Parts: sequence; structure tokens; C-alpha cells
Amino acid sequence: MSEVVYLNGTFILKEKAAISPDDRGFIFADGVYEVIKYYNGKPFRFADHLERLERSLQEVQNGFEDLAGLGSIFSKLLEENNLVKTHAGVYLQITRGANKRVHHFPEGVQPTVYAFAFTLPSFTENLEKGIKVITHEDIRWLRCDIKSVALLPNTMLYNQAVEAGAGECILIRNGKVTEATHSSVLAVKNGTVITHPLSNLILPGITRKVVLEICAENNIPVEERAFSEHELYEMDELIIAGTGSEITPVIRINDTPAGNKKPGEITRFLQRKFFYLV
Ligand SMILES: Cc1ncc(COP(=O)(O)O)c(C=O)c1O
Repeated sequence: MSEVVYLNGTFILKEKAAISPDDRGFIFADGVYEVIKYYNGKPFRFADHLERLERSLQEVQNGFEDLAGLGSIFSKLLEENNLVKTHAGVYLQITRGANKRVHHFPEGVQPTVYAFAFTLPSFTENLEKGIKVITHEDIRWLRCDIKSVALLPNTMLYNQAVEAGAGECILIRNGKVTEATHSSVLAVKNGTVITHPLSNLILPGITRKVVLEICAENNIPVEERAFSEHELYEMDELIIAGTGSEITPVIRINDTPAGNKKPGEITRFLQRKFFYLV
């Protein structure tokens, strides 16, 4: 079946979608994005994704305004692509738009808005058995809190994980664990959930936020603090969390077993509570 996408106000076949080579998304990676998961047509934490998108747009001074219209666009994309009765994702990208190549932000440019829907099943084997990760120095910029489409460092780092047969790459900046290339990192030590505090060094992950809410509701202590790479190996349980990865246990770091070599008790509890919410 042909894929229907959304581009600047119209729903069209993907092969008919055309974006100017002058688009600043193409020239400068001057754009922001979101990925929202739909469980059988129902968006998970839609308001949180919209709030984060609004903030990303503000931070890069992108003038796109019609956030209120996005929900119906996404629903139509799911319908057009027969993805209402399954687990799907919607990808949305908003760039500053097409303009003569200048380094400053030009005035009066219409943002480019592109969205598509895709099947996004849960990675059940990973959720059940856990994954291996590698670690690498965090080579990204200092505004990781903005969900920018400039993901070359993330893809370079993730590619190394794939080449090593691993499922993610955990990032280390100045000796401390920040997050992973496309997921948040949470750990458990002596019953306490530990994760990097919100700052310019990490994306404010929605799944991370949900996990912390589950902890608060269930009296699981949380410490939002940066922990060292050394501590990473000493944790009882390790989790990567994200819209796509949901709550995935980590059972191996580089060549060392992580935690108790199998998904831990708190991880299992968080998974159960998470899937109850979706
Ligand atoms: C760098 C990074 N950190 C964390 C996350 C997890 O965020 P969320 O839970 O909102 O999907 C993502 C998701 O794409 C990401 O790219």
C-alpha cells in the first residue's frame, strides 16, 4: 500500500512529497522533531510531547504556531495508512523553511511541516530478556535538551553499538552518564532509581518522566543525580527508556554483565506499571 504523508497542509503520497533543496532543514539541520507512540490509535502522553515540541521551537526561535492542529493531522495519518488498530509511531519534523542560504535566521520564512506514521511494535524480546549496550564519550553539543534533527553524532554513536551487536550506546560526559543515543538511562541501586537530572546535557525524555511518576506513586525513592561510568557497572539494575524502547532492561555493558545479568525486580515492576498506562 502506498504511504500517505503530511507536508505543509496536505496529505499526499510519499513519492509525490517534495521539499526544496533550499530548506534549512536540509542545509543546516535547522529543525526540531517529535516522535509520538500510538497504542491502538491512542496517543501516549500527547500533551507532554506537544509541550516539549513547543519548547524546542521556542529555543531555536522557530515561529511555527499551529500546535493545536497537530493532533487531527496525526489521527488522519494513522487512518490513511491503516495504523489505527495497531501500535504505531508518528514522526513530526518542523524546519525553519526554505530560504536563500544565510547563516542568520531569515525573517518571513514559512516553516516546513512534515509528518508520517509508521508501525512501531514493542520490541518484546528486548523487553523480556534485556539488551547489551556499549559506552562511548558523549560527543554531542551542549543543547541536548532541544529535540533537534541534527542527529549525526547520535547516529555515529548508535552505529557503533550496532556494529558491536549492541542495542544502545550509553553516553559519558566528563566521566558521568548522561543518557543514550535515542533513549534515557535509569539505574537502580539498593532500591533507589537514579537518573541524570534535567539539564542542557540530556533530552527531557517523556518515558523518563513517566518512570519517575510511577516511582513517586509507588514510594520508590528517586535520586536525580549524575552518576559516574564506574558506578554504572556497580548498579543493581539498568534501564534504557524511550518512546520506542519503552522500558528496556540492560543486562550487559560492553563486555561486562550488568546488574544481576538479568532484568531486575524494580525494572519488572516499572514495566508492568508502564504497560498498564498505555
Ligand atoms: C537523546 C534522547 N534521549 C532520550 C530519548 C527518550 O525520550 P522519549 O522518552 O521522550 O522518547 C530520546 C528519544 O528519542 C532521545 O533521542
